[in-house]
Order: sequence, then structure tokens, then C-alpha cells
Amino acid sequence: MKLNQSNIKKAKNYLDKNCCIGIPTETVYGLAGNAYSNMAVKNIFRLKNRPTNNPLIVHYLDINMLKRDCLINDNFIKLYKKFSPGPITYILKLKNNSKISKYVTNNTDSLAVRFPKHKIFQNLLKKLKYPLAAPSANISTKLSSVQASDVKEEFGSKIKYVLDGGKCTIGLESTIINLTSRPSILRLGGLDISKIKVVLKKKINFDINPHKKISPGQSKLHYSPGIPLRINIKKTRKGEAFLLIKKRKLASDNHYYLSKKNNLNEVAKNLYSCLRKVKNKGYKSIAVEKIPNKGIGKAINDRLNRASKY
Ligand code: TXA
Ligand code: MG
Repeated sequence: MKLNQSNIKKAKNYLDKNCCIGIPTETVYGLAGNAYSNMAVKNIFRLKNRPTNNPLIVHYLDINMLKRDCLINDNFIKLYKKFSPGPITYILKLKNNSKISKYVTNNTDSLAVRFPKHKIFQNLLKKLKYPLAAPSANISTKLSSVQASDVKEEFGSKIKYVLDGGKCTIGLESTIINLTSRPSILRLGGLDISKIKVVLKKKINFDINPHKKISPGQSKLHYSPGIPLRINIKKTRKGEAFLLIKKRKLASDNHYYLSKKNNLNEVAKNLYSCLRKVKNKGYKSIAVEKIPNKGIGKAINDRLNRASKY
């Protein structure tokens, strides 16, 4: 998708007025607002119907911009050099004099930060005097948005503008790593954790416990298409849509392909839009073929597991 400076200017104008808008990232679309503004941040929570104790990710252009607000450490530098900009979010300690709105972090002293790779987002950040708080652009517990039309479907006229950046290339949210103490993974996502292990040269803990306070967004019910979803399925029930990852010999009206050649990156990219599509077609339930639990397949299975708790 080409950069359109007049759209970026329009986005900046809304953000400067503390309005929230939809913006594209390489992972999923975000519902963005000025992270230094209490008004903008409170608006994000209200629009998403998000519990105020579930903190937001703040998006920066680069490390220079970040240093105003956060303390950085060696693990962060190593990972930043290798993976940012990209689909990884770091939890860092906030500086005492940081300008981040207290509503972003629910008054705690750690901040989730990410450096998006999407060219349109980067171009926008270059023009702003503040970083952008942006959770995924969906109503709380619902499916994330991976194209501009999804964001409009979620929020309708409640938001004034969606910056169109085409379809997200990754399609799953970022991987989250807590670096405020011994590194631990809080959410599986677009960056394969085996790559993180190679860079840190040590074992990393997992803290993906839905009952723990540290990452409240990891609640059990999440990423829900709003209809029942079954996973690891070989045979569908009557009236069920069937999401597949390998080409079948026999065609059927209820078959929907996440990939035709078992390509897990493609599955990730198509997952949310395919779930949204079959839901909108009026299916009463969704069955998904078994997805190999390796690489990004682990993050895909994490999302499907949660979506199946409906
Ligand atoms: O790819 C992504 O990360 C997308 C795009 C828009 O950047 N954003 C996203 O945001 O997925 P959201 O709000 O849907 O998920 C953020 C997660 C939540 O589970 C939240 O609980 C966790 O990050 N989180 C935020 N701040 C935290 C903190 N200080 N400590 C622990 N977890 C935190
Ligand atoms: Mg989300």
C-alpha cells in the first residue's frame, strides 16, 4: 500500500485533537491515541469497552523516542537491535518523569512498548510529538482487525477515521516479553520465541497464565468470533464452516482455506479475516482443522484455544 501524505496528515490532525483513530500495523490494526493525553487514552478504553486495569501498548518510532519515557537494559538492547521494528513488545520500567498518561498503565510503573514496522505507521510517528497508545482495534474479547474494513465493522461511526494500510502482513498480535526482571514471555505472537532464545542465549520463562495479574489481557475468553468454535477437527457437524490449511480433493461449500499448502505464515495472515468472514456469512459454528504446533503455529493455536472458550 502506497504512502498517501494527505491521509497521514488527516490522521495527524485527528490525533492532535485527542481523537482516536484506526491505524495499520504489520501485526493487526490498532485503535490509536496520544499516549501522553489522559483524554485520548480514556477514550480508547471507553471505545473498546476495555477494563481499565488492562494496560495498553505504546508505539514508538525508535529507541531515541523511547528513552524519554522508559529505562532500558541490556536484554532490551540485544532484542531491539535484532527484532525491532517488528512484531515484538517489550515490558520495561517507566521513568519517574515519563509523560505517559497514568491511564495507559493503570498507574503501575511498567510500560509495554513496541516499534511497528508498517511504513504508514512509521511515517505518521515521524510527524507526531508523542508516541501512540494502541491496543488491537476491536471491541474487548472480540476478533482483532486485520484490514481497514474490519475496524469500521467493529466501531462504526464511533471513530472518525481509519488510516487504510491494506491487509496486515503478519495477521497476529505481537509476541510480548517482560524485561523488567528475568525475561519471560507473556504472550505468544508474530515473532517466534525460538528466535528470541537464540539472541538472549538463555532459557526464558513462560508466564502465559490467564489468571495472573501481569498481563490481564490474557483472559480466557478472547479473540472470539462470537459463535462456537471447535479445534483439531477431522469431521464437521451439520451447518458448520470448516477452516482448512491443506487443499482437499473434494470441494464443499463449507470449506474455507486459511492456506492451501500448509503454510503457517499464510494461516496466521488469513486467520482473523477468515473467522470474521464465516461469522458474517451466518454460520452457527466453526470447525478448524488441526494446526501443527510449531513456529507461529503455537501462536495460532493459542488464539484458537481462547476463541474456542466461547
Ligand atoms: O501487535 C500488537 O501487539 C497490537 C498492535 C496494535 O500493536 N496490539 C495489541 O494490543 O495486541 P492489545 O491491547 O490488544 O494487547 C496488549 C497486551 C494485553 O494483553 C495487555 O494486558 C498486555 O499487552 N500489556 C500491556 N501493558 C502491559 C504491562 N505493563 N505489563 C504486562 N502486560 C501488559
Ligand atoms: Mg487485543
